[in-house]
Amino acid sequence: MKKSINGHELEIPNHVAIIMDGNGRWAKKRFLPRNMGHVEGAKTVEQICEDAWDLGIKYLTVYAFSTENWKRPKSEVDALMNLLNKYLVDSIERTSKNNMRVRVIGDKSKLSEDLQANIANLEKASSVNDGLQFTIALNYGSRDEITRAIKNIANDVKAGIVNPEDIDESYISSRLDTFDIPDPDIMIRTSGEERLSNWMLWQLAYAEFYFTDCLWPDFNKDELIKAIEYYNCRDRRYGGVKG
Ligand code: IPE
Ligand code: IPE
Ligand code: MG
Repeated sequence: MKKSINGHELEIPNHVAIIMDGNGRWAKKRFLPRNMGHVEGAKTVEQICEDAWDLGIKYLTVYAFSTENWKRPKSEVDALMNLLNKYLVDSIERTSKNNMRVRVIGDKSKLSEDLQANIANLEKASSVNDGLQFTIALNYGSRDEITRAIKNIANDVKAGIVNPEDIDESYISSRLDTFDIPDPDIMIRTSGEERLSNWMLWQLAYAEFYFTDCLWPDFNKDELIKAIEYYNCRDRRYGGVKG
């Protein structure tokens, strides 16, 4: 989809995936506790969902909590889980107003029962919405996701649902947590780190990567437009040749 932004005709990526990083450093710079950075980061998430839809983005996926983030101090993990829980509850009303659908990917079975119930509620309540398709990765790790998919595929073979020779890339994709969303076109990571930290290894095979020093709580519509402008400067060849 093309859209005119600041006087320029830009191709809008269909699916944007974001590693929201730098909440802790944002707080540290202000001599605030790390958790305040997460509170501000959560506000940025709400705003960026509106901005993304406004710019014509259909799918937005954010990395909220990784399988490795359990290594953080219990007080920080608890604060993050509380914040996520509040976000899920508050989102019921918001998503019905703005027609946004929310999905959660990652291993939900390791989350508290409370959180699991709130996820199920929100996913169900927003499932009919056809506006922004917003996905939150929670207790998500790409290697964990692929491991779970392989176990499921092995069980499919055992149950006679699929023959090993019929397992192709699309079958594997269909067994990942992202089975009903397309692959991202662009991956954004804030805070200056340039690594994937176990994020969507399969799905990002042909995505463009955009790194910015901007810390997540400072990320806004202008920063998102900069990423889209960068995306428009890329020549996506997918292994082929272009004139
Ligand atoms: C990202 O910010 C949020 C989560 C990982 C939950 P960080 O908490 O990683 O912030 P920094 O990297 O320490 O600044
Ligand atoms: C990646 O950020 C995970 C999320 C943003 C949820 P981290 O801050 O946890 O990653 P590392 O430790 O820098 O690799
Ligand atoms: Mg970090």
